[in-house]
Amino acid sequence: MKTLIKEIDINKPDQDLISLFANMLADGKTVIFPTETVYGLGANALDEDAATKIYQAKGRPSDNPLLVHVADKEDVYDLVENVDDRAKLLMDKFWPGPLTIVFKKKAIIPDRTSGGLDTVAIRMPSDQVARDLIRRAGVPIAAPSANISGRPSPTKPEHIIRDMDGRVDGILVGGPCNYGVESTIVDLSDDIAMVLRPGSVTLEMLREVLGQVDLDPSLKNKDDNVKAKAPGMKYKHYSPQAQVYIVKADDLEGFAERVDSLCEDNAKKGLKIGVMTMNYDQHSYQAKVFDLGGSYTEVAKNLFDSLISLDRESIDIAYVPYFEERGIGVAIMNRLKKAAAYRII
Ligand code: TXA
Ligand code: MG
Repeated sequence: MKTLIKEIDINKPDQDLISLFANMLADGKTVIFPTETVYGLGANALDEDAATKIYQAKGRPSDNPLLVHVADKEDVYDLVENVDDRAKLLMDKFWPGPLTIVFKKKAIIPDRTSGGLDTVAIRMPSDQVARDLIRRAGVPIAAPSANISGRPSPTKPEHIIRDMDGRVDGILVGGPCNYGVESTIVDLSDDIAMVLRPGSVTLEMLREVLGQVDLDPSLKNKDDNVKAKAPGMKYKHYSPQAQVYIVKADDLEGFAERVDSLCEDNAKKGLKIGVMTMNYDQHSYQAKVFDLGGSYTEVAKNLFDSLISLDRESIDIAYVPYFEERGIGVAIMNRLKKAAAYRII
């Protein structure tokens, strides 16, 4: 398929360009667009044939439901059975932004979009291009991350163009994504709110608004993944070709020491080694270094790009520190453990 690719200035979005892509979405076509988290692969959420095209373009298992994006808070009421007080509090505090809420769905959401569930996951992105596009399309937009199923989510234009040119009708190219990890997903169907996927809206931030909020216990270890409440969390995910190892150490010096000895062993085997680390880690590694930035926020933003870069550099084996699991560190470690297939040493 021929893909229409156009660049848009995110600071001054060209409204004619938005209209062009919005019309494609209204016509049942697939369009990749930027959001503040990762790029999304969108289609009309209310049109089963359009939703089917998303699964085909990604190679996504059909029981993995699509996340639905709206342009305005009011749009949610047409799509879901009930917006309770907790949902209202969260929407007021975190929308527009990187928080997805799981609601009981109305019949208007087709099974194809909800993956056969009686719930639907909805978010209102803060990215202006994304919101303008959805509003102009005039329909809610189903959009999973715009990666081939199982691969890291795309956060930069070059990631999508390489993987998706020829697989979708259109690509609207904006800048790099601000947050870099996908939205936090929170399920309110029980008395206690449960985070199904950690993200930039942290557990701490949610607890400040709702009181008790739990993390889906099945996310804690590999063997429980099949029980994950967000179907997508049970699949192999974020996997680069390189074998990633998470290295536990008390501090960065300890990390450097351990990695040095690992590099020595592997260099003898002729393997190409990568080290993903913080920019203030000034140790000189006998390996290719991938800079994750200087704060946890930057690590989240750079994480998928670094994982994708490992493959671009044909790295065989890569080491990364174990980040503290608090704040956004929970989201970082959730993605890293999957990328590393739970190899923690
Ligand atoms: O930041 C994001 O959320 C990005 C951007 C594009 O908005 N989207 C995204 O979509 O990450 P996706 O499809 O890659 O991940 C959505 C996750 C999947 O793990 C899916 O199984 C889960 O949400 N999900 C969707 N509907 C659900 C539902 N009704 N109940 C529980 N989990 C659901
Ligand atoms: Mg995804």
